[in-house]
Amino acid sequence: MMPTTPERDLRGHVALVTGANTGIGRVTAETLARWGAHVYLACRSEEKTAPVVDAIRAAGGQVSFLALDLGDLDSVRACAAAFLAAEPALHLCVANAGLAGFRGLTPSGFELCFGVNHVGHYLLVRLLEPALRQAARPEEPARVVVVSSDSHATAKGIDFAAVRTPTRSPTSMAEYGVSKLANILFAKEISRRWADAPVVATSLHPGVVASDIWRRIPGPFRWIAKRFMITVEEGAQTTLHCATSPHLEPGAYYVACRERAPAATALDAGLAVQLWEESARWVGLDGHPQESQAASSRSA
Ligand SMILES: NC(=O)c1ccc[n+]([C@@H]2O[C@H](COP(=O)([O-])OP(=O)(O)OC[C@H]3O[C@@H](n4cnc5c(N)ncnc54)[C@H](OP(=O)(O)O)[C@@H]3O)[C@@H](O)[C@H]2O)c1
Repeated sequence: MMPTTPERDLRGHVALVTGANTGIGRVTAETLARWGAHVYLACRSEEKTAPVVDAIRAAGGQVSFLALDLGDLDSVRACAAAFLAAEPALHLCVANAGLAGFRGLTPSGFELCFGVNHVGHYLLVRLLEPALRQAARPEEPARVVVVSSDSHATAKGIDFAAVRTPTRSPTSMAEYGVSKLANILFAKEISRRWADAPVVATSLHPGVVASDIWRRIPGPFRWIAKRFMITVEEGAQTTLHCATSPHLEPGAYYVACRERAPAATALDAGLAVQLWEESARWVGLDGHPQESQAASSRSA
C-alpha cells in the first residue's frame, strides 16, 4: 500500500503541472491546489482540461490553463512565454505528462515517446529556469519533479541517432524505456547544474497505475489488468512527496515515497551530461536550432 503524503500548506506557492487534465497529473494538480498553491495546468486540450479547472475553482482553489503540446517545440516555447508573462516565480514544476504505446515522430522531428516525454519537458524546464531561480530560497529550494518509470531499466543506453527517427519497435515500449531513462538523467543533471539557486530535481516511479496510459490495450484485457493496478490517487503520492517533502536527496529517484537506486545506466553521470548537451543543441539553446533544421529539411 502506498504511503499517504501528509497535508501541506502551499499558500503563496506557484506550481505548474504538465498533463494535468487526467490521471496522475490531475490528482497532483487538484491536491496542490487544495493545499493552497496557484496551479498552472499545462495541457494539450483546453476542452479536456475544463473539468479540472472547474473542480479546482469550485473547491476555492487558484488555477490557470496553459496550452502545451510537448511534441511541438513552438508550443513549448509559447507555453513558457505565457507562464513567464504571468508569473515572476515558479516554486514547483511537475513534468508529469507522458505517452506510451504510440508510434511515430513528433512535429519537431523526434521519436514520439522520446520527443514528448523528454525533449518537450527539457525545453520547458530550461525556459522556466529564471522563474525557478526567482522562487528558490536557501532554506526552501525550488523543485522540479520528473515522473519517470521503472521501465527505464529496460533501456541499455540512449541511441542519439535513433531518437531522431520514427519509432522502430512494434509496441514502442523500448522507446518508452529510453524516454524514462532520459527523465531520470535529466533530473540528476538539473540538480547538479542548478544547485547554486538552489533548484532540487527528483524523478520517480508512480507505481503501476490504473490511468488512461493503458488506452492502447484492447478493452477486455485493459479492464482485467486495471483491477490489479493502484488507483490514480495512490499513484500521485510519490509525486506529491517529491513536490513537498522537506527531506529530499537532490537528483534522486523515488518509489513509493522512498528514495531507491535506479538502474545503473540511470546513474551514469557522463550520459547525463551528454543528454543535456545534445538536448540543448536539438532545441537550439546552444545557438544551433537542430530541430527546426530537421523539420525544414523534412518539409522540403
Ligand atoms: N500509469 C502507470 O502505470 C505509469 C507507470 C509508470 C510511469 N507513469 C508515468 O506517469 C505519468 C502520467 O501518466 P498517467 O498514468 O497519468 O497517464 P495518462 O492518464 O495517460 O495521462 C498522461 C497525460 O499526458 C498528456 N500528454 C500526452 N501527450 C502529450 C503531449 N504531446 N503534450 C502534452 N501533454 C501530453 C495527456 O494529455 P491528453 O489527455 O491530451 O492525451 C495526459 O494529460 C507519465 O509520465 C507516465 O509515463 C505511469
